[in-house]
Amino acid sequence: MLAPIKLTEHGMDSMNSIATDDGATPRTVDTGAASAIFLLQKLAVIAKFRDVETTAHMFRVGQIAGLLAWHHTRDSLYARLVCRAAPFHDIGKICIPDSILMKPGLLSGAEWEMMKKHPVMGGKLLHCPGSPLLTVAEEIALGHHEKFDGSGYPSGQVADRIPLSARIAAIADYYDALASDRVYRSAWQRERVLASIRSLSGQAFDPQLVEVVFRRHDDIVQVCELTNQRWAQADQGPFKWSDFEPLIAYED
Ligand SMILES: [Fe+2]
Ligand SMILES: [Fe+2]
Repeated sequence: MLAPIKLTEHGMDSMNSIATDDGATPRTVDTGAASAIFLLQKLAVIAKFRDVETTAHMFRVGQIAGLLAWHHTRDSLYARLVCRAAPFHDIGKICIPDSILMKPGLLSGAEWEMMKKHPVMGGKLLHCPGSPLLTVAEEIALGHHEKFDGSGYPSGQVADRIPLSARIAAIADYYDALASDRVYRSAWQRERVLASIRSLSGQAFDPQLVEVVFRRHDDIVQVCELTNQRWAQADQGPFKWSDFEPLIAYED
């Protein structure tokens, strides 16, 4: 017999509880939030299967973005939404053919144009008016290649016409991409990454967020290490909702 349903504020453990329900664990369900959580967990599995990006990179971007959101806004609820949503910045790439996504060499002009559609595709995948979490995820997927000076894509939006969550995810994604090893190059020293971010302040990145990166760099390094430890230990099972939770508390 199933245990009684327990409503929770955010449905954090709902999917874990249902998946491991042995009759002793209460089933926890938060209507609406649980559906959004379930969708993101499944999209994370698809992203892993399609090899869109490494799982560790996805979650480091989430943790860095959440941290920046917290220190920029002091709104812990918003920062937690950003932390959960930012891992899905590149989810639109699941719609890109393998022949382009996995291509080892340079992309042709037409292939690059196809690749540049991933923000719009990601936005469409996540579009769900009424869900705060999916709305932030949609903003990030759609806007993470926009640039502060309007030279980005897909819309060429400028400054605060780009949603804050997308401006935050853009800088978190750039930081982590350069600070970690890739198949085609080794990780940059963190000082070099910071210098590059500084040089792009006002061009690619929101100058206020650049300042937050510099002010809270020790925290960024710490949260990256915590994320790496977590994923070094993780098994290959399905994603748990706790995987999306902040690893550093958002509190003064
Ligand atoms: Fe992207
Ligand atoms: Fe990324």
